[in-house]
Amino acid sequence: MNDHASLTVFERACRGLPRAHTPIWVMRQAGRYLPEYRALREEVDFLTATKTPEIAARITLQPMERFPLDAAILFSDIMTPLEAMGVPVEFAPGPVIQEPVRSAVQVARIRELVPEEGMPFVLDTIRIVRSELSADRAVIGFTGAPFTLFCYLVEGGGSKEFMWARRFLREEPEAAGALLDVLGRSMARYMVAQAEAGANAVMLFDSWVGLLGPAEYRRFVLPVLKRTVAEIRASTDRPIIYFANGGATLLEAVKELEVDVYGIDWTLPLSRAGATLGSSAVLQGNLDPAALFASEEDLRASIDAVLEEAKGLAGHVFNLGHGINRHTDPDRVALLVDHVHERTAGSFA
Ligand code: CP3
Repeated sequence: MNDHASLTVFERACRGLPRAHTPIWVMRQAGRYLPEYRALREEVDFLTATKTPEIAARITLQPMERFPLDAAILFSDIMTPLEAMGVPVEFAPGPVIQEPVRSAVQVARIRELVPEEGMPFVLDTIRIVRSELSADRAVIGFTGAPFTLFCYLVEGGGSKEFMWARRFLREEPEAAGALLDVLGRSMARYMVAQAEAGANAVMLFDSWVGLLGPAEYRRFVLPVLKRTVAEIRASTDRPIIYFANGGATLLEAVKELEVDVYGIDWTLPLSRAGATLGSSAVLQGNLDPAALFASEEDLRASIDAVLEEAKGLAGHVFNLGHGINRHTDPDRVALLVDHVHERTAGSFA
């Protein structure tokens, strides 16, 4: 990309370029802690909301209207593309798959995603949001990373340990590998399609990868992720963000992924993540979502501590270390966004 002058503050931080302030957005910023989201959800169920571009765009923009956030994240779910790959998903409220994928025969029936055919509503949502949001604010597209989608597909829903999924890796390594492969190829196409529809950056959520040790991560996950990232990179120059939730012990391996931004959960100080990932690494994170329940004074101190940790980094996108809790007071989010902007204004000219 040559025209750096037209980049949003968020994209400038993703690329380690000079920026007016530290950009901030919040994982799960469009969701149940917002009264306007809950009101809308009384009229329409979650799946319909994700599949109706006008509604999904409204929900995506709800937090953007309330707070001066630097980026919007598409309102959708990591599970949404699975239906178009032949696996129906219900939400109750977490994802439920009636027929978990636990055999080579079932894996063979899974179809590679063709985003333009299977997910036109998501691409249309991005187009609406991009056209309604001012040019100085970014739109982030996203998907689940292959291993995290694999976990839900094999388990059939949420779990603390995802033992069915981890068993499948060991008992049927070939079928498991084929499943990870088709997920990786599909999610690469999905990310490229979202970028082409107008997403300024794309993010891969690896929510459950913290269940693996470094050896298992290198053996089962890293090769497919490397291919996924390379396939995205071959078709778009938009920043790629990879969030390895619970991945503190995996960072040496994660470093081998050529992504632009590494998402860090709240358990690992950013300076330590940076020491492992290298001096050119741009990090996203990582305020503990529970800090939003502290006193205002304590919250400000916790935000300052994250900013202090980020000082030596090539770039920093402020975020929580995981999704915002549904019982959070929206006024605390207002305080968070303002405080990050005020504290960092003029620091990176
Ligand atoms: O604001 C945003 O971040 C954008 C929208 C978004 C949702 N889900 C909406 C949603 C995003 C980025 C996700 C990602 C997602 N979904 C992840 C990865 C991030 C993470 O948390 O690690 C995962 C693991 C899921 C799976 C999922 N979807 C669960 C476990 C649940 C139920 C529990 C919960 O946290 O709400 C969902 C449902 C879901 N996805 C809701 C929303 C707003 C709640 C639906 C409702 O009842 O209205």
